[in-house]
Amino acid sequence: MNDVAPGIPLTIVEVPPPTFRSRAAAAESIDGGPRLIELLAEAENALRRGEYGAAALQTDAAEVSALWALATHWRRRSVIALSGDAVVGLATVRVPLRESLDSARIRIGVASNAREHGIGGALIDVAERIAREEGRTRLRLRAPHVAGVPFDPSAGWIESPDGVGRVPAAAASSRFLTHHGWSLAGVERVSALDLQSGAASQTEALDAQIAAALAAIEPEYALHVWSGPTPPEWLGGVANLSADLPGDAPTGHAAAGESSWDVNRVASNDVRIAAANRTALVVGVEHVPTGTLVAFSELHLWRDHPNRPALQGLTIVHPEHRGRRLGLLTKARLVRELRERAPECPGIVTWSPESDARLVSLGERLGFRPIGVEGVWTKTLEPLPEEPETDEAAVTDAATAADVAAVTDEPAAAGTPTATD
Ligand SMILES: CC(C)(COP(=O)(O)OP(=O)(O)OC[C@H]1O[C@@H](n2cnc3c(N)ncnc32)[C@H](O)[C@@H]1OP(=O)(O)O)[C@@H](O)C(=O)NCCC(=O)NCCS
Repeated sequence: MNDVAPGIPLTIVEVPPPTFRSRAAAAESIDGGPRLIELLAEAENALRRGEYGAAALQTDAAEVSALWALATHWRRRSVIALSGDAVVGLATVRVPLRESLDSARIRIGVASNAREHGIGGALIDVAERIAREEGRTRLRLRAPHVAGVPFDPSAGWIESPDGVGRVPAAAASSRFLTHHGWSLAGVERVSALDLQSGAASQTEALDAQIAAALAAIEPEYALHVWSGPTPPEWLGGVANLSADLPGDAPTGHAAAGESSWDVNRVASNDVRIAAANRTALVVGVEHVPTGTLVAFSELHLWRDHPNRPALQGLTIVHPEHRGRRLGLLTKARLVRELRERAPECPGIVTWSPESDARLVSLGERLGFRPIGVEGVWTKTLEPLPEEPETDEAAVTDAATAADVAAVTDEPAAAGTPTATD
């Protein structure tokens, strides 16, 4: 036990990596084996409800297991903080395995009724220690700020270093992260498109935009629509376009910005998406004279939850083909396809960097409206001294590591590979 706050005995438990054979198998085994995965999914859901209140972004143990166990290009380690039987927080560290080998993405969250007791501080210490164990020093995490949540504006703002976007300095996450040595590196806009209100007029407006954009580019370009796994003829094109993304690309797509995309990775990612109960809906653009894929935009729909909003994934136009409204065309057509194929879908949620004026205005033209922003924070860990420390901080770390090992029934697992590659 780690007595972080008086009255709240806290245990931090590392969740062993799940094994995943099929969604059905995962669901059956939840009562027995991977109870900790279920607790992790619960904690994630509580956090997401607080962030965007959207049933949209809810998850479950089978989805968590699928996305985690079937990952081939990154490894994830997660811990949950327990107060008695109650999950009061989580921390996840995700490390890429093929590129950016000094980097890690972290997620931290504490249950809203357990904040300001030092639990977040304990979790971020554990997350940073795990990152170190994985050999990572460049850390990144995202802190959401939901539109409509009150904060004290007199405390001012923390401005994004690129000059576009800011987060409230008084927000709990801003104070917390600054206190723990993190810096704001950028701001992303979270937007939603409401597909249910004014549906008929929206459809007409979309049709007009699609017709105008198509008239300008045909017959040099042709549109292709697919749902589910990437058709074999476009696997190479999707891999090439994904690999070209810059490291700070929009992150609605979990692995955006990772350059090691190839045909096998696209195919294995399709398997993960399907196992996670999602269906991809994609509009691609072929450059007809060369037969290559030069743009695509993708959405993820929930197979068993048609009433959840769809998530926007990547939208990419090859640099040589920009300025021809291919971005607008693919996104508009995607919305149109979604309306036809899933008329009950309430909307789409998307993430775009505030600094990417083109992407932001493209979304606005299609009717997306901001629902919040996410601060992207970074921290670079200092190298550890060569000699083991004997001061108080080192003792605290050791105690936490012992707690983790004791409760998981497994060694604290320095870098147990979860990847299937
Ligand atoms: C940001 C977040 C993780 C902080 O979690 P937390 O458990 O409240 O964090 P802590 O208790 O360690 O620290 C928060 C504050 O409480 C104070 N505090 C810590 N222990 C305390 C105690 N026993 N009594 C009173 N105050 C205490 C800390 O000094 C800290 O103040 P500061 O932020 O001004 O430095 C939490 O607000 C959260 O989950 N937010 C939503 C998710 C999110 O934004 N995640 C991304 C950002 S990390």
